[in-house]
Amino acid sequence: MTASHATPPAASDRTPPNADHDWWRSAVVYQVYVRSFADANADGIGDLEGVRRRLPYLRDLGVDALWLTPFYTSPMVDGGYDVADYRDVDPLFGTLADFDAMIADAHALGLRIIVDLVPNHTSDRHPWFQAALTAGPGSAERERYLFADGRGEGGKLPPNDWESIFGGPAWTRLPDGQWYLHLFDPAQPDLNWRHPEVRAEFEDVLRFWLDRGVDGFRIDVAHGMIKAEGLPDVGFSTLTTGRRQVELLGKGRLPYFDQDEVHDIYRAWRPILDSYPGGRMAVAEAWAETPQRLARYIGPDELHQAFSFDFLDATWSAESFRKVIDTALAESAIVGAPTTWVLSNHDKQRHVTRYGDGPEGLRRARAATLLMLALPGSAYLYQGEELGLPEVLDLPDELRQDPAFRRTGESRDGCRVPIPWNGELPPYGFGPQGCDLSWLPAPATWGALSVAAQTGAPGSTLELYRDALRIRRAHPALAADAGDVTWLETGPGVLAFSRAAAGTVLTCVVNISGGPAPVDGYGDPLVASEPLTARDGGRLLPVDSAAWFERR
Ligand code: GLC
Ligand code: CA
Repeated sequence: MTASHATPPAASDRTPPNADHDWWRSAVVYQVYVRSFADANADGIGDLEGVRRRLPYLRDLGVDALWLTPFYTSPMVDGGYDVADYRDVDPLFGTLADFDAMIADAHALGLRIIVDLVPNHTSDRHPWFQAALTAGPGSAERERYLFADGRGEGGKLPPNDWESIFGGPAWTRLPDGQWYLHLFDPAQPDLNWRHPEVRAEFEDVLRFWLDRGVDGFRIDVAHGMIKAEGLPDVGFSTLTTGRRQVELLGKGRLPYFDQDEVHDIYRAWRPILDSYPGGRMAVAEAWAETPQRLARYIGPDELHQAFSFDFLDATWSAESFRKVIDTALAESAIVGAPTTWVLSNHDKQRHVTRYGDGPEGLRRARAATLLMLALPGSAYLYQGEELGLPEVLDLPDELRQDPAFRRTGESRDGCRVPIPWNGELPPYGFGPQGCDLSWLPAPATWGALSVAAQTGAPGSTLELYRDALRIRRAHPALAADAGDVTWLETGPGVLAFSRAAAGTVLTCVVNISGGPAPVDGYGDPLVASEPLTARDGGRLLPVDSAAWFERR
């Protein structure tokens, strides 16, 4: 078993950026929710300079790349997913010069940078939308968005029955009588992707950031840009059935998602990415009815990756994990790209809390991490999961900023609380010394979870992540595309699979059986989410835990 205090890899041990085209295939990508990561200028809001200063932490953690959530000019109605200028940095987060300094330092440390692209909608403050408002019905300016006349007497009813993901109708009426479509907040009008200017604009935005050196893009709502011709009704709505249309996300067909023509957009983008050196990539945030339809976003002529949200949605049971893993592996074999695993992000309840609201949540989360990091493919971590942070469930309503909250009562703020870095009092070193501001308050109990408190602490979640990431980086059986997954016979509730390469076999065992599981015969333990226990000269894996073993 490795010592709990891992030695970070030297920068020179890492693949330098641009050296390996296929880096993304097995990359561990760390999602930075910029607003909540680190605040350099003491205004209580995370910023790009804060990210730059904390890059050594991420290098030492052992990740390959960062995905930064939107830091572009924005009125921040949806935390920056409402972009007013795609080619500039919002003053809250810094300047383009700060971005350049951050990416230069990241590359020098061997870390790649993925930025978030938000093509489905702009902010209502975007110059195009402002021009459309001024120009009025029937104008060319309105063609870039989805404006329509209403139904019913005087056009008083929305053009169709579509619902916003954030609740309520997806249409808002203007004083001039026309309606415009917004699948999210009214401050996020949907673009008309059948319009050539929209396509040209985003191709140029891609080039803008590629020229600045970004290694890839996370494509927001990648399944949403094309709407069915004629904007047909879904056929039911919350008003008529009490059932929200969003419940079909990832499960059924909606006329505003996953339309076949969306793939034309990616077929136009791929040559742009490929025209830059060093393996520039794109990962889709896409929801589709079936894994087969999701797989259509991936391939040599479209995007490189699509998050496997089925894995994130799997319940804490061996059957549930086994099923989604098998499906994902089968799909990845068809598309020729490894799966993109994820357990948490800025939209979902943190997995510590999803898996149980007591101590078992953290135990299970740690085990799930070892499971994820042993699977072939790429893995995305969400900031703070390496600290075992739970969802903050008791934020005062008046502090919640998620626009969905006012419309549905559901809020994503609880996974967006600033990261605890050090110290005993909130906000635990989120800002510079002496600054006690943070845009969301951290719980009084988070001092023990801070980076400083966990660094070097035997058994801490942070050291578990460091150990696992170091082994993953070094072990031949965990390298890109190494060794197929071979499932091993086990007792009920126990998952065990091996991957082999270069004469060594790595076995990952996850115990969801409700009692200790024997783990003899798999070889030497490399890392475990809970200490193994001894029995008759053999070993037991405790309940709700996972371990990696190596046999040569
Ligand atoms: C994506 C983002 C989410 C955002 C939405 C609208 O789902 O992950 O945070 O609210 O798109 O842009
Ligand atoms: Ca700041």
